[in-house]
Amino acid sequence: MDKHFETLAVRTQSGQTLHKEHAVPLYLTSSFTFDNAEEMRAAFADETDANIYSRFSNPNTDEFAEKLALLEGAEAGYATASGMGAVFASFMAFLKSGDHLLVCRSVFGSTHTVLTKYLSRWGITHSYFDADKPESIEGLIQKNTKMIFVETPSNPGLDIIDLELLGKIANKHNVLLNIDNCFATPYLQQPIKYGAHIVTHSATKFIDGQGRVLGGAVVGKKELIKEVYLFCRATGPALSPFNAWVLSKSLETLAVRMDRHCDNALKLAKALQKNKFVDHIKYPFLETHPQYSIAKKQMKQGGGIVTFNIKAGIEQGKKFLDALQICSLTANLGDTRTIATHPASTTHAKLSEEERQAVGITPGLVRISAGLEHVDDIINDIEQALLVSGN
Ligand SMILES: Cc1ncc(COP(=O)(O)O)c(C=O)c1O
Repeated sequence: MDKHFETLAVRTQSGQTLHKEHAVPLYLTSSFTFDNAEEMRAAFADETDANIYSRFSNPNTDEFAEKLALLEGAEAGYATASGMGAVFASFMAFLKSGDHLLVCRSVFGSTHTVLTKYLSRWGITHSYFDADKPESIEGLIQKNTKMIFVETPSNPGLDIIDLELLGKIANKHNVLLNIDNCFATPYLQQPIKYGAHIVTHSATKFIDGQGRVLGGAVVGKKELIKEVYLFCRATGPALSPFNAWVLSKSLETLAVRMDRHCDNALKLAKALQKNKFVDHIKYPFLETHPQYSIAKKQMKQGGGIVTFNIKAGIEQGKKFLDALQICSLTANLGDTRTIATHPASTTHAKLSEEERQAVGITPGLVRISAGLEHVDDIINDIEQALLVSGN
């Protein structure tokens, strides 16, 4: 019997112990024991699946990674200590000196730093393509292009890239397609259905959903995840069992939380469209979004993030943030609590002004992660802060 997303999220868990507990126990142990030398030898020789050491595997991290893989429609997964651990591992497991990466221009600030500061040091080059010029992608593929890496929706630009098109291009040119699915989560979008080979996640965001723990994961085909596992096993970005335990429980409520995040975000975006202090309101499911039809095609709903521009610029932007009474000023997103951030002075401060402009980060850009408070209170708080800063 094929089960629905919600049922898989709630009912997928590792086997019961002899205590017959209902909730999965926390396996807070660095290593695992063997009954004899032969059993231990066989485990190290990969002849059995026995747990050896929690840097390699652990029942809690395995449960989280396997459940996320199932929800993404992937064969396997490996959990990492953070989203950046997952992004970095997904590069290092497959790329070598001389390889080329094709990347959408609007990527998360730390991913941009990895590409420009670190991968370049090891002779791995990259080219950017613009989300609004998908016709340019194929022409940018070089002989040594090994991977296409994309965020959709992107952070913070909310650019949407056509996954079906990317899947076709990647498979035609035999290039790995790697999608950072952090903003959508598998509940709203499953890139593997469109031909993606690997999907990376920051589980710190909507997957945890309550701003408690960091985590990440890479999911995909078994043989690809084996490479990620071998890289991580040797280099050490393993997820802590405690964080995995939290994140696996969080997946149980992902669908209901995402429904409300999306509902609140859409209502907020519509309210902002009527506000005289802001312009460039961006939300994937607003008809004014440049890639609205693609968002509608590949996403179940528009996600929990809304961006807008404070017309009067940065000084008014700061006054706006200071005037908020409910929304939190913090670097995270995907929390139960609505969060306001100013990307130009925080997450994307390391980019040059030109680089920020190229990805649509204006000095007055504000990113709102719509939380789970009552939507009227979210809208009222943002509207009163805009009024204070606008006068
Ligand atoms: C799209 C995206 N990818 C990756 C990351 C990195 O995740 P983490 O903070 O868990 O390392 C973030 C963090 O904001 C993100 O927004």
